[in-house]
Amino acid sequence: MKRFAIIGGSGLDQLNALEITGRRPVMTPWGAPSAPLCEGLFKGAPVIFLPRHGEEHSLPPHRINYRANIAALRDAGVTDIIAVTAVGGIGADSGPGVLVVPDQIIDYTYGREHTFFDGMGATVDHVDFTLPYSASLRKLLVGSAALVGHAIVDGGVYGATQGPRLESAAEIARMARDGCTLVGMTGMPEAALAREAGLDYATLSLVVNWGAGIGGGEVVSIEEIMQCLRDGMGRVLEVVGAALSAGLSPQAQA
Ligand code: HPA
Repeated sequence: MKRFAIIGGSGLDQLNALEITGRRPVMTPWGAPSAPLCEGLFKGAPVIFLPRHGEEHSLPPHRINYRANIAALRDAGVTDIIAVTAVGGIGADSGPGVLVVPDQIIDYTYGREHTFFDGMGATVDHVDFTLPYSASLRKLLVGSAALVGHAIVDGGVYGATQGPRLESAAEIARMARDGCTLVGMTGMPEAALAREAGLDYATLSLVVNWGAGIGGGEVVSIEEIMQCLRDGMGRVLEVVGAALSAGLSPQAQA
């Protein structure tokens, strides 16, 4: 039986449409997650919601306890995580307002607690990460976007940067040469930890600005980012809602 969780990012610190049935503060061997686990019904489907940056958006990307977040969800019986991320666009098909379900990751972060195999007694397991996102969950998200009539880019390379500052134009140019089509600050180590925990994990990214220096070198406007978040989050939630219903349907569970 599948049990879904949504990890909310910037612009999704509260899931207003969630009919809350329980709000549980939890603790893990890795510390406390970003917020209590919020259980409830989203568009009729049972789900657990966890805001990655905390309920008041107070945790910067490098201070998020990714291990506690993933461990808490796993311990709550979650099998599948839909991670919502706001990102910058680098690829020509990934401009502001576009929804993307990336299929690859490059990790540029540093100094983050990034593994559960950390000398705490567990035998080290070098998990396969060839395909960093769950193929079945990606397919569910892409199919759900089609169901609700929203255009979506199927595939992309998420470059995870350290933040909290945005990138320089040269950094974005280098990421483009590396093959990145998106840039965000929270995709790693979240995806790798979900893999280590044996959970299905995929990201639904909303592009909220062009990466630094793209399209003429104008500075990235925080106002544009906020506007894109306001304009795009409704579509994100429609896709997520459709994915939960389809993913929990008797046919999907069979
Ligand atoms: N860079 C990194 N993270 C981001 C960006 C960006 O341009 N936009 C939204 N999240």
